[in-house]
Amino acid sequence: MKNRSILNRTLSYLAPFKWKLAIAGLYLTFSTIIGFLQPLVIQKITDEGMLGNNFSVLVGSVLILAILVILGQIVEMAQTRLFVTIHIKSYYTIFQQAFKKLLRLKKSYFEDKNNAEVLNSIQMDVSQVASVTDRYTVMSFFYIFRIISGLAGLLIISWKLTFIVLAMVPLKAFLVRGFSSRQEKMMNEVIESNRDFSRWFGDNLEGIEEVKLWNLFAKREEDFRLKQRVLLKLQKDNSMIDAWNSLWEALLEWSVTIMLYLIGGILICRSELTIGAVFAFVSYSWYVTGPVSALLNLKMLFARIMPSAKRLFKFLDMDLETDEGTAHITGCPPRLEFKNVTFAYQKNKPILQGVNFHVEPGEKVAIIGANGSGKSTILNLLLRFYIPDKGELTADGLSVSQFPLTEYRLLFSVVSQEPYLFLDNIAGNIDLTGQAPPEKVRDAMQASGVAGYIQRIPEGLNAQIGHNGARLSGGEKQKLAVARALLKDAPIVILDEAASGFDVESEAYLHDMIVNQMAGKSVIMITHRYENLNGMDRIYKLENGRMIQLDQKSKHDIESWVLKNKNYN
Ligand SMILES: Nc1ncnc2c1ncn2[C@@H]1O[C@H](COP(=O)(O)OP(=O)(O)OP(=O)(O)O)[C@@H](O)[C@H]1O
Ligand SMILES: [Mg+2]
Repeated sequence: MKNRSILNRTLSYLAPFKWKLAIAGLYLTFSTIIGFLQPLVIQKITDEGMLGNNFSVLVGSVLILAILVILGQIVEMAQTRLFVTIHIKSYYTIFQQAFKKLLRLKKSYFEDKNNAEVLNSIQMDVSQVASVTDRYTVMSFFYIFRIISGLAGLLIISWKLTFIVLAMVPLKAFLVRGFSSRQEKMMNEVIESNRDFSRWFGDNLEGIEEVKLWNLFAKREEDFRLKQRVLLKLQKDNSMIDAWNSLWEALLEWSVTIMLYLIGGILICRSELTIGAVFAFVSYSWYVTGPVSALLNLKMLFARIMPSAKRLFKFLDMDLETDEGTAHITGCPPRLEFKNVTFAYQKNKPILQGVNFHVEPGEKVAIIGANGSGKSTILNLLLRFYIPDKGELTADGLSVSQFPLTEYRLLFSVVSQEPYLFLDNIAGNIDLTGQAPPEKVRDAMQASGVAGYIQRIPEGLNAQIGHNGARLSGGEKQKLAVARALLKDAPIVILDEAASGFDVESEAYLHDMIVNQMAGKSVIMITHRYENLNGMDRIYKLENGRMIQLDQKSKHDIESWVLKNKNYN
C-alpha cells in the first residue's frame, strides 16, 4: 500500500465525526475571538479606566473581562469534552474492528504468535492510528484558518515584513521532512522491538514452570537487560528527534522575530512604519508562526503513525477463513468423505498424500497411527481450520466449502487433543453459550465423569478453574472438555485422544457410552489405546501420509500394530 493511501485510510477515521468536527471548529472560532478580545479589554481597563480615571468604564470593562474569562473556560471545557469523545469513539471503533478481525482470522495466523505479542501489537497500532483523532492533531487542521486570518492581518500592516514571516515556511518544511523520515524509520524499529519484547515476555510467563525447574532466572534476567537496553535506546532517540525538532523550530521562530525587529527598525528609521505597527506586527506574527509549525509538524505525527498504520491495515486486510458456501446440510449426520486429500502445512513437507476414507451416518470410526502421522491434521481439515492442497472433503456428496462455516461447524462436538479451558468457573466452561437447560448440563457432567469431581469440591459448579484449568488435574480438565462436547449434542462426535488422561474406570465408562449410547451419531475417535478399538465399526491406520483400513474382524492387523507401537500405549 502506498503511503498516500495509508494516510487517506488513517484520516478516514475522522469521517464519521464530521458534524462533531464542525462544532469543534465553531468552538475554536469562539475561543479565538475571546482570546482576541481579552487584550483589547485589558487595554481599555488600563488606558481609559485606570489612567483615565473613569470608574464606570473600569467596572464595565472588568465585568466584560470576567464574562469573557468565564465564557472562554466554558468553551474550553465543551471543546475538551468533544475532542475526548471523538478520540475515545474512534479508538473504540478501530479496536473493535481489529478484535472482530482477530477472531475470524485463519488458525494459521496464531501459530507463530503468543497472546502478549498479539495484544501488544494490536493495542499499540490501534492507539497510534487513533491518535489521528486526538485533540492536538485535530486542532492542527483548524490552524489553517488561523494562519489565513493572521496572514491577512500581517499583509495589512506590511507586505514587506510578511515576506520574512513567510520565509520560515519552506525552511520549517525542509526540517520537518528530514526529521520525519528519521522518525518513521525509528518508529518501525520501535514497534518491531516492542513486538519482540512482548513475545519474549509472554513466553516467560507461559513457561514459568520451566523457568523455575531449569533455574533460568539469571539467563532470563540477562535477556531482559539486553532487550530493554535496545528498547530504551530507541525510546531515547525517539524523544530526542522531537527535542531536536522543537529546538530548530524555536530557533527559526526567533530568527523571524529578530529579523522583524531589525528590518522593522530600519523601516521605522525610514519612517515607512510606526513603532506601534512594528510591535503589533511582531505580536501578530506569533499568531502565524506557531500554527504554521503545528501544521507542518503534522508530517512528523504521520511519520510516527505510518509504521503502525501499515501494520494495522495489513492485519485488517488479511484473508479470513474461507466462508462462501450457501448450501444447507440435509443429512443428520451427513456422510463424510475424504477424496484423495493431499495436504502440507509447509511447502515440500507433505503430511497427507492422497487420503481416502469415509464415515457413514451413525458409524463409529477409529483412527490410529504413530505420533506425527497426521491424525490431528485430518481433524484440522475436517473442521475446516485448514484447506486441502489437493482433493476434496465432502459432506453428503457436496464439497464442505459449499456450506456456511458456522452451520457446518455446528455438526461437530469436538474434544481436541489439547482442549482450551476459559478463565471462568466450571459451569461457564461446560455451557459455553450459557443457554443450555440445567438438566442437560447435569447429564453431560454425568456422562463425562466430571460430576464426581464437582461433588467433591465445596464451590461445586462455581469453582474457578484458573488459566486453562490450572487448578484442575490433567484428567479433570479432559473430563470438563468431554462434558462440554457432549452438551453440544452435535450429530458428529470427534475425540482426539480425549480420554488419554482418564483413569481406567472413567475411560471404560465413557467408551461404553460412545459405543452403545450414541446411536444415530457418527463418531471419529483418535486413540493410541487398543481397548478403545472395541466396538468400533471401522478402524483406519494413518501411515506415510495414507489412510489404510484395517480388518478388525481378524484383529491380527490391529494387534500387530499395537505390538509394533506399544511404546505409545
Ligand atoms: N501448524 C503446523 N505447522 C507445521 N507443521 C505442523 C503443524 N501442525 C502439525 N504439524 C506437523 O504435521 C505432522 C502431523 O501432525 P499431527 O498433529 O497431525 O500428528 P498426529 O498424528 O496427531 O500426532 P500425535 O499422535 O502426536 O497427536 C507432524 O509432523 C507435525 O510436526
Ligand atoms: Mg494429534
